[in-house]
Parts: sequence; C-alpha cells; structure tokens
Amino acid sequence: MRDNPLVLHVLGARPNFVKAAPVVNGLAALGVRQGIIHTGQHYDALMSDVFFADLGLPEPVANLGVGSGSHARQTAALLVGLEDVVTEHRPSLVVVYGDVNSTLAAILVCAKLQVPTAHVEAGLRSFDREMPEEVNRVVTDALADLLFATSPEALAHLANEGVDPARIHLVGNPMIDSLFAALPKLDPAPVQERLGVSGRYAVGTLHRPANVDDPQAARELVDAVLGVADQVPVIVPLHPRGRQRLADAGLVDRPNLKIVDPLGYVDFLSLVRGAALVVTDSGGVQEETTMLGVPCLTVRPNTERPVTVTHGTNRLVTPASLPAAASKALADGAATPSGELPPLWDGAAGPRIARVIEAWLRDENLSPAARGRVG
Ligand code: UD1
Ligand code: UDP
Repeated sequence: MRDNPLVLHVLGARPNFVKAAPVVNGLAALGVRQGIIHTGQHYDALMSDVFFADLGLPEPVANLGVGSGSHARQTAALLVGLEDVVTEHRPSLVVVYGDVNSTLAAILVCAKLQVPTAHVEAGLRSFDREMPEEVNRVVTDALADLLFATSPEALAHLANEGVDPARIHLVGNPMIDSLFAALPKLDPAPVQERLGVSGRYAVGTLHRPANVDDPQAARELVDAVLGVADQVPVIVPLHPRGRQRLADAGLVDRPNLKIVDPLGYVDFLSLVRGAALVVTDSGGVQEETTMLGVPCLTVRPNTERPVTVTHGTNRLVTPASLPAAASKALADGAATPSGELPPLWDGAAGPRIARVIEAWLRDENLSPAARGRVG
C-alpha cells in the first residue's frame, strides 16, 4: 500500500506533449501527485520547449537527453535512462502516449520493473508493420495495464489481439482537448503576416520515413507538392527529419512555395485554421484538420485514424494523385461523409482519463481484502 501515490508521464516527441497536457491538467484538478519525465527524443526548442510554453505543461522532473539515433541506439539509450529514473522515483503508475520510441521504451522498462502502466491512444492500427510506429503500438498495447482508446474502432483491434476488455476505456481524444483549449488563441492573421502569406493557401507537413528517407520517394513527393503549388501558394513548416533530403529533391523556396522552420503549437494551428487545404503525413494533423473543418490530403497508403476519413475532412492520396485531389479539395471545400464528428471528441477526454486513473490508484491503495480479491 502506498501513501500519496505518484503518477509519472513519459514524454519525448512533439505529439506526446499535445496529448499529455489535458491528462496532466485533469490529474492536477483531482490533486493527484505527478511529474513529467522528458526523454529528450525531441530537443530543438521548436520541437519541444515551445510546446511546454504553449500548452502550459509543468517543467519535467527529469530530462534524459537521449537525442537522436538509429532505432536501436535511440531505444537502447531510452531503456537505460528510463530504468534509472523509474527506479529512483518508484511511481505507482507510468502514463505513456501515442506510438513513438519513447513510448515503447517506457512500456518495456516498466513491464520489467513491474511498474503499472497506462497507454493513452491505445488500439490504433495501420496494419502496416513497415511503419516503426505500428510496431510500437502493438508492443505497447500488449504490455499496458490500462488502455485509453480515442476512437471506437480501437476497441475491436484490441479485442482481436486478446486484450482483456476490463483494461480498456473509451475516453475520447486528448489531442482534441488541447485543440479545444487553444481555439480562443488561434488567430491566423499574425502568423500569416509574419510568414508573408495572404489569401488562399495550403499548409504542408511531411516527416514519415516512407516519404522522406528514400531519395526516390522524396523526389516523387516533392514533384507532387510542386503540382499543388501550381494551384495555390504552399507553406511548409518542415520537420527536421526530412529537411536535407527534401531540399535535395527540390523542396526549396520558390514562387508559391515557402519552406520554414517547424512552428510552435499555437502558430501552427492558427496557420492551419486559415488554410484552404492541408497536405500532410502526420497522424495528429489528420485529427486536427477534421476538428477545424479544413480539407486534408494525407500522403500515405493507409491511416491508423480512419475515423478522420469516415467522420472528417481527411482523404488518403498517393504522390501521383495529390495534384488532382488538391484541385478537387480546393473546389469542393471541406465535406465530412457522415456529417458528424467522431464520438467523444468533445474536449473532455483528459478529465475522463484522470477520473479512471484516480479510481485505479484508489483501488490499488486498498488492501487486497478490501478490494475483495482475497477473502
Ligand atoms: C518521431 C516518431 C514519429 C512521430 C514524430 C513526431 C519514432 C520512431 N518516430 O519521428 O512517430 O510522428 O516523432 O514528430 O519515435 N531531429 C532534430 N531535432 C529534434 C528532433 C529530431 O533535428 O528536436 C532530427 C534528427 O536528425 C533525427 C530526426 O529528426 O535523427 C528524427 O528524429 P526521431 O525522433 O528519431 O524521429 P522522428 O522522425 O522525429
Ligand atoms: N505541429 C506543430 N508545428 C508544426 C507541425 C505540427 O505544432 O510545425 C503539431 C500539430 O498541430 C500536432 C502535432 O504537432 O499537434 C503533430 O506532431 P507530428 O506531426 O510531428 O507527429 P505525428 O502526429 O505524426 O506523430
């Protein structure tokens, strides 16, 4: 039995920060003791610090500074750093988010140390094991004690993998909570002025390994983006991963195409809010455009977020089909097939998750007899 249990959140990459903020706020409102471990997987100020500031996240209690590397090297550094910090803090629960290498490492470390875990954004599947994220998702969900699902199809995926339904909670999408909270601050005008865009424009974000790591794939992608830029000015806040390879493939400033550094959370969503079209391979951006009602073309053969297609503005495209799809999207505007937004994407996922965690902590702190597990 533990007095005053501690919850640790393991965060490492840009989308983790956005998903965690509503959970951290929800637990704070319930008075739960908590802390953030920043793994340092993302470390540039524009990939990390700006999110802590924009989302009002508290300072991490530790930053492991693991940085970049191959999957094995990065994951190995994460495992070593996380084992030390989890052993030192002895949390009652570790919460992990999404599908990045920091998520995978934290779940493995905690499983071996017998520290209970919760996974936020459980059950998403692209069924594409060539994506490093899909491997991370499957392993994480196999090992997590509490699984928080953001959309209903996740429940079926987890059931098919034999996850005990008692461990799963359909809670809605905390990334959408963050968007709701930011809405009053989303003003396109200042960021448009700073970046020199006006009138109709498209925003592009590109960073998936399948799109940006291989020179041939990068060339096809860049040609397709140039086909969009023939129709409408395109502004690309570029993730550092693909910067050099995409530039080598021709993604450089030219009339109707502007390449800039990654934007902070509020600036980026402000720019998207004012856009006529988004071209992306991001997971989170598919969801945010659905909520903002901005047409989104996702340059991927699959998505682990099909609800953004059935209940949102998202369409999957290939590089070859992108220019024509952009022309159609610019003519048609945003249309959602079902006319309804995804269920429980209502801005209250963080408080729901916090309530489940608080109840779980209370139950864990009862003696086995009081829990009714032993006579
Ligand atoms: C990671 C996640 C991906 C997620 C993305 C969000 C994994 C396997 N992938 O991909 O699922 O969609 O984050 O953005 O965890 N770099 C910098 N500065 C930084 C961070 C990265 O320059 O602050 C560069 C480095 O060259 C690095 C490369 O980006 O090698 C890739 O970074 P890494 O964290 O390994 O993967 P991402 O592509 O960012
Ligand atoms: N984002 C941002 N600035 C940018 C690009 C993206 O703030 O220049 C935000 C975006 O709004 C979303 C999150 O970063 O909240 C998504 O991260 P990313 O696309 O890197 O990861 P993914 O969702 O693909 O894992």
